[in-house]
Amino acid sequence: MSNPKVIVTRKWPAEVEAELKALYDVQLNESDIPLTAEELKLALQTADAVLPTVTDALTSDVLNVENKRAKIIGNFGVGYNNIDINTAKAQGLIVTNTPHVLTDCTADIAMLLLLMSARRASEGERLILEQKWLGWKPTQLVGQKVTGKTLGLIGFGRIAQAMARKAHHGFGMKIIFFSPSQPDQTIMDSLQATRCETVEQVLSEAHFVSLHCPGGEATRHLINEKRLKLMRPSAHLINTARGDVVDSNALIKALKEGWIAGAGLDVYEGEPHLNPEFLELDNVSLLPHLGSATEETRVAMGNRVLANIAAFFAGNEPEDRVV
Ligand code: DGY
Repeated sequence: MSNPKVIVTRKWPAEVEAELKALYDVQLNESDIPLTAEELKLALQTADAVLPTVTDALTSDVLNVENKRAKIIGNFGVGYNNIDINTAKAQGLIVTNTPHVLTDCTADIAMLLLLMSARRASEGERLILEQKWLGWKPTQLVGQKVTGKTLGLIGFGRIAQAMARKAHHGFGMKIIFFSPSQPDQTIMDSLQATRCETVEQVLSEAHFVSLHCPGGEATRHLINEKRLKLMRPSAHLINTARGDVVDSNALIKALKEGWIAGAGLDVYEGEPHLNPEFLELDNVSLLPHLGSATEETRVAMGNRVLANIAAFFAGNEPEDRVV
């Protein structure tokens, strides 16, 4: 019997691609140019498994294409708001993601952005790069102390908890959070974390707010003008979740008008096309969606997809099945 046909939509780490080649009749994407909607439809019609990632929009139009051969979509990424899950379900497609393996690295990036924003690191680096630094002075680029402050988490899943561990045990921060579901009490106790009743309570109490909720319609513009106004003027907002969780026009206004002190962003509404007004602001640190970008994690993400499709082709339930 011939090997199953697998289509990968973007370039993956070389060692995972080598494994794919050994196991499957695989079509890789050497050019790394994202597939168009028509190409994604064709992939669904010609492969047994399609392996997209967070930049591929698998809309209902794409997923509803006729004469599909694909039975499984193995997403390379923990977030899967790029896939219209209801349509996938209705079409009988199995969808998997890559949880666990990117937890620490994404939490590290959130912590990095928190520190960059608090200590005005981007502004400082610009001063050096633009050759405008005239030397040390007592009033230069004075930021906010991090140690001992309150970190407010919106969402309390794996990545939020990993950030809380780093912030609490490494920086002595007090942890408060909002989560729609009640987390394990032993986890809360180990972090001396307090669950708040509302998002508003977290925003008004925390010195640093970090977003860790999934993207999608339910959380679109969760952080809007009204909520940004509840934050302390000395507070910082960190987003490593999904860009559309924050209303970027409202955030730009908040940063310009000093409702909050700063922001650290790894994700953007409509990325990679971010609102150009962000580029004119001094009090924002901007990274290009680097959350999981370490050698170890990207290989582990690929291996997780491999394990999921291997289980499927062996007639078993993939471990990371989301639909
Ligand atoms: C994810 O996995 O959802 C990230 O955004 C990309 O690593």
